[in-house]
Amino acid sequence: MDKDRVKAFAEKVYADMAGTMAVGMAYVGVKTGLFRAMEGKGAMRAGEVVAAAELQSRYVEEWLKGMTAAGYLHYDATADSYRLPDEHAFLLASEGTDHFMGGLFYFAPTLLRVAPNVAEAFRTGGGVKFEEFGSEGVVALDMINSGQYENRLASHWLTKLPDIAERLQSGGRVLDVGCGVGRVGMAIAKTFPKCEVIGLDPDAETIRQAQAAATKAGLGGRMQFVAKTTDTLERGAGFDLITACDCVHDFSAPGKTLAELRHLVKPDGALFIVEPKAADDLQDNINPIAAMYYGMSIFHCMTQSLADGGPGLGTCLGPRRTMELLRTAGFEKVQLLDIRSQTNLFYAARP
Ligand SMILES: C[S@@+](CC[C@H](N)C(=O)[O-])C[C@H]1O[C@@H](n2cnc3c(N)ncnc32)[C@H](O)[C@@H]1O
Repeated sequence: MDKDRVKAFAEKVYADMAGTMAVGMAYVGVKTGLFRAMEGKGAMRAGEVVAAAELQSRYVEEWLKGMTAAGYLHYDATADSYRLPDEHAFLLASEGTDHFMGGLFYFAPTLLRVAPNVAEAFRTGGGVKFEEFGSEGVVALDMINSGQYENRLASHWLTKLPDIAERLQSGGRVLDVGCGVGRVGMAIAKTFPKCEVIGLDPDAETIRQAQAAATKAGLGGRMQFVAKTTDTLERGAGFDLITACDCVHDFSAPGKTLAELRHLVKPDGALFIVEPKAADDLQDNINPIAAMYYGMSIFHCMTQSLADGGPGLGTCLGPRRTMELLRTAGFEKVQLLDIRSQTNLFYAARP
């Protein structure tokens, strides 16, 4: 055995555990508004942070030290002051933008809370159902994705389907499947005020949050959210555009659901899919983003599908299998879209 390699790996284990603790502390920073309280303020003494955030001093003092040790804050020993660098605030105190990363921290406690149940499922099969993640799980998913949907979906991503975008200017029907808190549908409803938008999700808590969010955005009257699955949805005249964002890999019956979407889309319509960015082969997935996605898969995406009797496709489904699924479901034109993203892949599928 190579002792240096043992030592190097021990360092990695400590670094990973430190990363986990940093994520927990950063969760507190987002949830309590500590990052917001320090944003753009320059150097602050601990008492000033306590006053600005209106929190308990002993907790804040320890948090400031922990976040400094983890590299999130800069500490000036002479002045005994802490600073949240602007570049860090850009990612940590920027809720609602497409560069906010705090939703990831929000997701971590939700994921690790179910780790004992998931470990048990390794032995017994089954898994943790979507609804068992609770309302904070729904909020976390929304925090991860909403900034991109609000700032990029209609203005950038959908321009890659120019015929559909043009049609939606004058009307048309849109279905957002696995709609979560409804940001995709809301972004489309805002950009294309003449079209009809329906959000569909089987999870009742999700639909409750979507209805509340649409009402808050003043879109309640224009949008419809249904706690349904695609097999119980009325086709009507069919849909010009169906969106399925960050959910195909979650489906418990992916082949059946995609075939139902094929039936729901108009002959000249399109299905637009956003999926986590992962390579087809494991040897190309040895990087931090894929490691993060495999963890999300085990503690959320895969387990909730397996819990529902599904195949547990997992977060790192990859383009080859995604496109195969779409073709098998009856979509003849399947395309990986040319949209650059660090974390997502985009597909268009047409009958
Ligand atoms: C990771 S969340 C994504 C939510 C939202 N689209 C977003 O991007 O933030 C996956 C969603 O798919 C929904 N879902 C799971 N199976 C589904 C199915 N068969 N049909 C429709 N939605 C489904 C879940 O309830 C959940 O809200």
